[in-house]
Amino acid sequence: MCGIIGYVGDKQASDVIIAGLKLLEYRGYDSAGIAVSNKGKIKVAKKEGRIVNLENHLKEEPLLGNLAIGHTRWATHGKPNDANAHPFIGNKRKYAVVHNGIIENYLEIKEELMSEGVKFSSKTDSEVIVHLLEYLDNGDPIATILKAVKKLKGAFALGIIHAETPNTIFAAKRDNPLIVGCAGGEGYICSDINSLPQSLKKVIVLDNKQFAVVKKNSVELYNFLGKPLDKNYVELSPEEWGDLKGYECYMDKEICEIPDALTRAIKNYRENKSFEKIDKDYLKSLRRINIVGCGTALHAGLYGEKLIKKYLPDIDVYSEMASEFRYNPVKVDEKTLTITISQSGETADTLVCQKMVSELGGKTLTICNVPTSSMVYYADYNLQLCAGKEVAVASTKAYNTQDLVFAMFIFDLALLRGSISQAEYDNLMKEIDALPKKAQEAIDVRGEIEAFSNKNFRKKSVFYLGRGIDYCVAMEGSLKLKEISYIHCEAYAAGELKHGTLALIEKDVIAIALLTDYDMVDKMYSSLAEVRTRGASIMVITPFADEMKLKEISDYLIEIPKVHKDLSAVVSVIPTQLISYYIARAKGCDIDKPRNLAKSVTVE
Ligand code: M6R
Repeated sequence: MCGIIGYVGDKQASDVIIAGLKLLEYRGYDSAGIAVSNKGKIKVAKKEGRIVNLENHLKEEPLLGNLAIGHTRWATHGKPNDANAHPFIGNKRKYAVVHNGIIENYLEIKEELMSEGVKFSSKTDSEVIVHLLEYLDNGDPIATILKAVKKLKGAFALGIIHAETPNTIFAAKRDNPLIVGCAGGEGYICSDINSLPQSLKKVIVLDNKQFAVVKKNSVELYNFLGKPLDKNYVELSPEEWGDLKGYECYMDKEICEIPDALTRAIKNYRENKSFEKIDKDYLKSLRRINIVGCGTALHAGLYGEKLIKKYLPDIDVYSEMASEFRYNPVKVDEKTLTITISQSGETADTLVCQKMVSELGGKTLTICNVPTSSMVYYADYNLQLCAGKEVAVASTKAYNTQDLVFAMFIFDLALLRGSISQAEYDNLMKEIDALPKKAQEAIDVRGEIEAFSNKNFRKKSVFYLGRGIDYCVAMEGSLKLKEISYIHCEAYAAGELKHGTLALIEKDVIAIALLTDYDMVDKMYSSLAEVRTRGASIMVITPFADEMKLKEISDYLIEIPKVHKDLSAVVSVIPTQLISYYIARAKGCDIDKPRNLAKSVTVE
């Protein structure tokens, strides 16, 4: 986790760093800090909490200089406080370091350095890096850094400044994202391509075990052995995402962007010929698909699993949360495809699984929203979401596009393997084309959801219920509500309630049922009757709002547009996203930055 940034140029570096950190705050917001180098001296300021605390502190006590590194933290090792905030500066004040990642052998290194008399001031793993640098220092910062990184086990993106090397930022990467670039007399390093100024136009996305020396007018690239490397540039997209465009928060904005995101995803999938780029003989030979993801991405994977079971009956499918997948025996052979799903493409749990499968000789495909991410880089094949930048920690439009792109892939695969006819395929494509408009219609009922949320935001417990694909959406709705409104919420397969959980249903509980498959109306009615009898209030989200049974059983009925039942998840999830948004708003929660969480979880 964490975001790092570095600047060298003619501006006051602290202004640039604060602006950049604000764009990186989604990566963690437990503390923030800056180290500024000026006339051979490095000064550091760090503050617990949001960037604004650091910003206010710098207004009182400015740090002047044109070279700086900054950090926004999501705490792993050591409490979120000033002492554990980055940057870390060595005891000789020669080096300062910002770090994203985990140093696995930090205790070992710390012990060694302490036995040499080195004093530590924090509980973090990262602090060892700066002391190691000063311990190994031979006057040549490049040689010193290259020596140090070889001693570090684990993952890191590092930004380093050296008091005696003016106008220079050093950057090193292993397994955590790091981007560098320079233009117009300004050099940058950063964790996220979208947090860099558009003026850079093109940047270098560092590969593993690469090291960069960034100045105002030049970037040099090396491997960890010190061999100079050619630079591959990536164009910065003109995407402007630092702007709320009048919305109250990013989550609201990103929900409203769902129809456009779906349109883009469909267009890109077809025009980019995403499916055609995958080896056809291999796809025909497939016998097994593994699906791996975390959180919302996992829920999209569970939806895909249901479709594979239906449309590709001769393929065994196994989906698992990434943090568990790697500990189970994994079946990987030449007839297996492992699909990773991720908005960021940097989630450590998922990335580790993808790498594990590759190391075992298996093929991987990633369904991902960030084309420059590690998952896309390392996967054999990729399908782009084109959802546009997602800033809110709660994932919304990425989920809708993950479901959509996964479904398009499955339908193409089914057609290729002959498990659906051309006519069935064409019909599914028509249904897909209708999704953006239907998503907009689902968003348009937000007034009813707002009213429901304003009435019910004090509830202590909510249950989402569904069967089949609706159950997958129930899981996603439940995660979203917990994540941003801090209300206890469970998702249950409706038929499973009576096997234990029904004991928790009582007055003051709300049950929200998703019902998009007409064949399930009677079965769902029975489950809801059991809930009603125990005193809970009921909301039903359904396209079958005219059904007498549903009118009779529900306290709140949210009508959504009718969608092909196998594509329903793309649209039926929208009211659940809006429910969590409005409930969090009514409760006064920080919607875009929920407590204890960060957008991109780059630690296992
Ligand atoms: O970037 P990823 O899609 O790999 O992230 C996976 C999860 O961390 C993420 O979906 C998380 O569950 C969201 N905050 C949920 O809204």
